[in-house]
Amino acid sequence: MVKLQVKEIALETAKTGAVALFLFEGGKPPKEIDRKLGGYIARLLKTKKYSPKKYAVRAIDTLGKIPADTVLLVGLGKKEDFTQEVLRRAAAKAAQSARAAGATSLALSVDALASKKHSAHDVAQGAAEGIVLSLYKFNEYRKKPEENGTELKSAIFASGAETPKVKEGVAEAEKICRAVYLARDLGNHPGNTATPSFLAAHALRECRKAGVRCRVYGKREIERLKMGSFLAVAKGSAEEPKFIVMEHLKGKKNEKPLVLVGKGLTFDTGGISIKPSGGMEDMKFDMSGGGAVIATMTAVAALKLKKNIVGLVPCTENMPGGRAVKPGDIARSMSGLTVEILNTDAEGRLILADALAYAKKYKPRAVVDIATLTGACMVALGTLASGLLGTDQKLIDALQKAGEKTGERCWQLPLWEEYDDQIKSTVADVKNIGDRYGGAITGAAFLKKFTDYPWAHLDIAGTAYSAKGLAPYQTAGSAGYGVRQFIEFLKKY
Ligand code: BES
Ligand code: MN
Ligand code: ZN
Repeated sequence: MVKLQVKEIALETAKTGAVALFLFEGGKPPKEIDRKLGGYIARLLKTKKYSPKKYAVRAIDTLGKIPADTVLLVGLGKKEDFTQEVLRRAAAKAAQSARAAGATSLALSVDALASKKHSAHDVAQGAAEGIVLSLYKFNEYRKKPEENGTELKSAIFASGAETPKVKEGVAEAEKICRAVYLARDLGNHPGNTATPSFLAAHALRECRKAGVRCRVYGKREIERLKMGSFLAVAKGSAEEPKFIVMEHLKGKKNEKPLVLVGKGLTFDTGGISIKPSGGMEDMKFDMSGGGAVIATMTAVAALKLKKNIVGLVPCTENMPGGRAVKPGDIARSMSGLTVEILNTDAEGRLILADALAYAKKYKPRAVVDIATLTGACMVALGTLASGLLGTDQKLIDALQKAGEKTGERCWQLPLWEEYDDQIKSTVADVKNIGDRYGGAITGAAFLKKFTDYPWAHLDIAGTAYSAKGLAPYQTAGSAGYGVRQFIEFLKKY
């Protein structure tokens, strides 16, 4: 991970490969640097040869006029549209441009961006997150690491009066980014590595390091818990299912916990209702919700949140085979409700059903699940927003607001009780698929049956991973989606 430092120095004295200057449309360049560069930046702006529209970058060779080799002008767009997310994206662009310019270190300053609306802590955190997240690489399976430009080894925040706040924001970003890196790593490992046992072992290790209590239940214990819906999915796999339970109980003794539940499907072939082969490799990412919950638990401990927080991750593969669950089979879930399994590819809801029922034993204040649940959600919202549904509007609003701040946007879909008609079974209490349309909603309507507490559901099928990275600070593969949103939500709720 790139080293982040905060130093009380003036930007123009930084002995780094590159210096980033963030500019608003219609704004002026920092005086001292521009003076040293002979007024070049002011002239670029005046002649409109460079205009600081959102994320527009211009690299300038300093010709030895300041210690840094390159000055990067980075556009922030209009001042009135400025948010932490705008800076996160701009800082990501700056880091990538520094790397492309051959720099191994970057200096920047965010003090001037702090205002009543955006504290120095917040802007520093946003910039640091943008830099660190954009530099993520997954090289575990290469003989020679993939290279794009130089490696950016350090980023220096040149700060003045705001130094203490900038230090705090940067330190927080570092902890959060470490968790996002973990979630991305877990997602990017292929299915043959990232088995349920692998996820469980990593949860145990990371939780021990962070100081989170973690227990892992194997097949025998899952049977003892009568999680028949979860076990139905696991039946077809040679890999043992695991149920990961993580507890961070640092709030008041009698304070009801917040419970996070993540879908930990380490590979989804569809089972007997097998998926088409094209693109099936992406189903290694079907544990992204689970990865986000594991990573979030390590972060809440690192950030020392004084709250009671629990993470639950049911893990299994969904495979076809001689022992696999078949269409028409009926499973008895932990809640006592029986489920007619008409499509074995609607398996996420089956493993979540039992985890949601297990959550009842905590008498939770609220439960939020996160899952790559439905292709229908991608059809509805594309890849720029997660689907958000639930039974408690205040909880939904809080998640939405947290995601707005962290750049993990969500869009609420309705969950009217009339949708329940779609999952009525003729032989069992409920069936695991609805009609042709509204699949993201019927998926949630199914999950709702297993809750009796304030509950919300995030469908991250469209946002959890991508071929290119959906924001400048995202990279190809797993996005680590939900981690930053959860941390923000847990801090505020
Ligand atoms: N893991 C998939 C959903 C998914 C699809 C995630 C594409 C990411 C990208 C899930 O288990 C699934 O197969 N859902 C089915 C449900 C259907 C059978 C009711 C779907 O969306 O087709
Ligand atoms: Mn499936
Ligand atoms: Zn799935």
